[in-house]
Amino acid sequence: MKAYEKLLLENKAWAQEMTESDPDFFKRLTNIQKPDFLWIGCSDSRVPADQITGTQPGEIFVQRNIANMVVHTDLNLLSVLEYAVLHLEVKHVIVCGHYGCGGIKAALSHHNMGILNKWLRNIKDVYRLHQEELENIPEEDKRVDRMVELNVEEQVMNLAKTSIIQAAWKHHHRPTLHGWVYGLNNGILKTISRIEPGTRLDHIYEYDDL
Ligand code: CO
Repeated sequence: MKAYEKLLLENKAWAQEMTESDPDFFKRLTNIQKPDFLWIGCSDSRVPADQITGTQPGEIFVQRNIANMVVHTDLNLLSVLEYAVLHLEVKHVIVCGHYGCGGIKAALSHHNMGILNKWLRNIKDVYRLHQEELENIPEEDKRVDRMVELNVEEQVMNLAKTSIIQAAWKHHHRPTLHGWVYGLNNGILKTISRIEPGTRLDHIYEYDDL
């Protein structure tokens, strides 16, 4: 059997199992999705949003990219964010990084990664903001892990800087923004930051005509 054929076979078994344990499962999900959460995570295959949070299909709207970035020119991210906040009316947006992130490691290196350089540049910019703290950490692994935390915190702030989030805060008093980091070695999610609706930002980022 080819590797990909196993996936199709496993899918059949899964669909049958779900139907057996809950005959209306697919019927319920066919016509509506009303998730409370938007998850912005790393593409890393070891950090599956639903499995590590024990959530079922229909419960989390998911966007993943290298190193869980919120880049203000990323049309994909912004479309997902606007759809989730405006139309699905999610109550929480979670940015989830993970320790030992390859994207963060690559950004802290000096390798030319071709097209990836352009993505990793956004991470290098975060590094520069926190250069002093990071360069005082002698062990490379610890420096990477601290950078993972600082990057998550920064990406949560990038969410708050969007007019999408600011308008939703003003008119609907949601969503709450969360920054979490996942431990590959123990499976535990750690809270890094949280920004409640209505929190004031650095004034230069605030829109007053939303
Ligand atoms: Co990663």
